[in-house]
Amino acid sequence: MEIQAIDGGFAREVSGVELWRELPDPVLEALRDAWTRHGVLVFRRQALSEEEYAAFGRKFGELDVTVRPDWGSKHRPDVIHISNMRNGKGESIGGLGAGELDWHTDQSYVANPSTGSMLYMVEMPPAGGRTWWANLQLAWEALSEAAKRRIEPLHVVYDYLLRQSTYDDEAPMSEELRHRTPPVSHPLVNVHPVTGQKALYLDPVTAAGIEGWPADESRDLIAEVRAHATQPAFVYAHEWQIGDVVMWDNGFLMHRREEFDPSALRWLKRTTLYLPPDRHIVPPSRPV
Ligand SMILES: [Fe+2]
Repeated sequence: MEIQAIDGGFAREVSGVELWRELPDPVLEALRDAWTRHGVLVFRRQALSEEEYAAFGRKFGELDVTVRPDWGSKHRPDVIHISNMRNGKGESIGGLGAGELDWHTDQSYVANPSTGSMLYMVEMPPAGGRTWWANLQLAWEALSEAAKRRIEPLHVVYDYLLRQSTYDDEAPMSEELRHRTPPVSHPLVNVHPVTGQKALYLDPVTAAGIEGWPADESRDLIAEVRAHATQPAFVYAHEWQIGDVVMWDNGFLMHRREEFDPSALRWLKRTTLYLPPDRHIVPPSRPV
């Protein structure tokens, strides 16, 4: 197995490993360590059943069943479908349509977020639909000392209602989903438990504001931090191929998806993991 930087950036490509096999402990330990430190791992040319995919995910943490059972696989509720495709009855087979998904962090709206995300590409359009990641550890390091002092004590409030309002192809939020997703607050800055490095934690799409701040100042600061963190020096854009598995750590990365032609077909399988807080940033929360 080899783990190499992609284009000299922070993301890592792992080659020489077949994820459908039972992987030996030293290989898994090397992958856990690489994920902890680098945040984005890319595997090419994989061919996985949902059982094999879930079994691989479980090596890193407990699998989550997300707040969207309507996107779940018929075979396993812990594998969800991200797709604009429809079945023979014209029903959507998954979530998120074909539009752009702006910079966000999965699960920011959850009090105890499952911070590990994995995507497996099954079907894809000829163009568009790239996924971008921004490294919020690099973004933190590049802030001025004055900016660091100003933002370090802040907490950000997140609300799934805001997130959902940006999705294509969605019915209005049900009472049940609203009940399961009350607003929560997380620190804007966290310390990595392994490396000791600080990192921003931010989800601009889902952020309702900064605790204790007026709405306009909140909006301005969140926009300022977002603009800083998404500069090219901190960003990796993934050119998908069928068979790719990409895993990332939402504890110190934001991501976005480009739109694609809605008449083209795109289908990814997603799993979500509770990463252990002794190895990954798991942002604490407090009631809003
Ligand atoms: Fe996402």
